Amino acid sequence: MVKDGLPEEETLIRMLDRKRLPVHLAVIMDGNGRWAEKRGLPRAAGHRAGAENLREVVRFCAELGIKYVTAYAFSTENWKRPRAEVDQLMALLVEYLYKELDEMDRQGVCLRAIGSPNELPPDARQALAAALECTRGNSRIIVNLALNYGGRRELVEAIRRLGAEIKAGRLEPGEIDEDTVQSYLYTAGIPDPDLLIRPAGEYRLSNFMLWQLAYTEFLMTPVLWPDFGRAHLAQALLEFQRRERRYGGLNV
Ligand code: IPE
Ligand code: IPE
Ligand code: MG
Repeated sequence: MVKDGLPEEETLIRMLDRKRLPVHLAVIMDGNGRWAEKRGLPRAAGHRAGAENLREVVRFCAELGIKYVTAYAFSTENWKRPRAEVDQLMALLVEYLYKELDEMDRQGVCLRAIGSPNELPPDARQALAAALECTRGNSRIIVNLALNYGGRRELVEAIRRLGAEIKAGRLEPGEIDEDTVQSYLYTAGIPDPDLLIRPAGEYRLSNFMLWQLAYTEFLMTPVLWPDFGRAHLAQALLEFQRRERRYGGLNV
């Protein structure tokens, strides 16, 4: 059966090679506002639908055995939005962190935050701290929520900390290599994303994971994030499995 022009979800899932799934999937959760506008709803309804979709995507990834999911939820640039929308986004974050906590825990989700979440409003910081603490012992799937995240900001913070180490005499500039830099990023110890999905028909990174995406496969799709369901994800994973990753070499 074909739904939305896609073969049935189960057919797509059966076609997947379970041994060649991405270890780390990154998603830019974009298009919530347009999803709502298309339905004559307030933008906040789109953000809610987007949050619901993240829950479904994480559940699906956990079922498939994908080890890491990183989701861009709020950028360092998103503070430029009207105050009312920022407030709604923060309120939604608090609501979902509390509401989904038990379910995340049951599913074996280990929640982590990347970015500068210490600059979020106090209730969001509190909800986040509780969720991180409650899920820290889980290991089935690691979910990084990028909150007040900026790729340039991440590099600036890493450089500052490296500079402080040098100044304190604990590090020589010549000792710094790519592994050193990696270990100073928010994603220290986590492999780089294998696949990045950018929905909503945009063709840019919007300051997301500038270092980590060096050799990531990109998948841009016009589908809006709240509509990007299991079938779309299965199709994206199939497309990923058709790609040939060469890392600058020759696959001969
Ligand atoms: C993404 O959806 C959510 C955030 C950036 C927080 P948008 O709100 O950017 O949705 P569009 O791009 O306006 O459709
Ligand atoms: C990227 O979406 C950030 C998040 C999804 C959190 P934006 O909607 O902020 O990106 P731009 O402004 O279109 O580049
Ligand atoms: Mg957007």
